[in-house]
Amino acid sequence: MTVKAGIVAIDGQAAAGKTAVGRELARRLGCPFLDTGIMYRAITWLALRESVRIDDASGLGKLACGCSMRLTDAEGGAILLNDIQLGPELRSAQVDEHVSLVARVTGVRRALVRQQRDIATQSAQDLGGIVMVGRDIGTVVLPDADLKVFMVAAPEVRARRRYDELVSQGQGADYQQILANAQARDKIDSERDDSPLAQASEALVIDTSDLTIDQVVERVLEGFASGKSGAGL
Ligand code: DC
Repeated sequence: MTVKAGIVAIDGQAAAGKTAVGRELARRLGCPFLDTGIMYRAITWLALRESVRIDDASGLGKLACGCSMRLTDAEGGAILLNDIQLGPELRSAQVDEHVSLVARVTGVRRALVRQQRDIATQSAQDLGGIVMVGRDIGTVVLPDADLKVFMVAAPEVRARRRYDELVSQGQGADYQQILANAQARDKIDSERDDSPLAQASEALVIDTSDLTIDQVVERVLEGFASGKSGAGL
């Protein structure tokens, strides 16, 4: 199926397959991909390194406003933060454990949302669109997106995918711990006051539990081609 690029917002729970699908979708549409989770992870990494306390909202907000961030990898897996190249460390257990708490902070969100909107505007002008992935993209960051997708999957499936990913990278992994962490993060992300994880009313809802990445991508492209949102394909 040939579809012209545009602005696609993908939101959903942790490890629902958003990144893998978003990357492949961007490749097929010929437009950039941005995983906004990596930006929250970068601020969390910096806060841990600079010993800014996770309950110090003002300190975290200042950190987010004062840092420069440049995405250095078209696949969306790396970032240049204040001239420090970050990649796999953004997915460490320590960052996993704290990132939802950092992402609750309004000052952090404001600074990052501003950057995300700038990136989307630039990409739309220069390259015809962008695929942006996160928790609040369709609801807050890009409410005028051409297509909004909300991805869900059973918690056990999401934990298994993350476990397999870590093992394939040669990293140690504990399935039960991953499951507990994903559920804890979903709870914090869904219950926070500022832009919680929520489905945009017109979003195309896809349960990815029993689907391959390609099958999900096809469904999104079908939704895109038919200009459809909100039907729950
Ligand atoms: O998608 P991820 O697991 O890399 O996201 C890391 C954290 O950042 C997760 O707790 C949710 C938060 N996040 C957010 O609040 N808003 C976004 N647009 C992206 C991620």
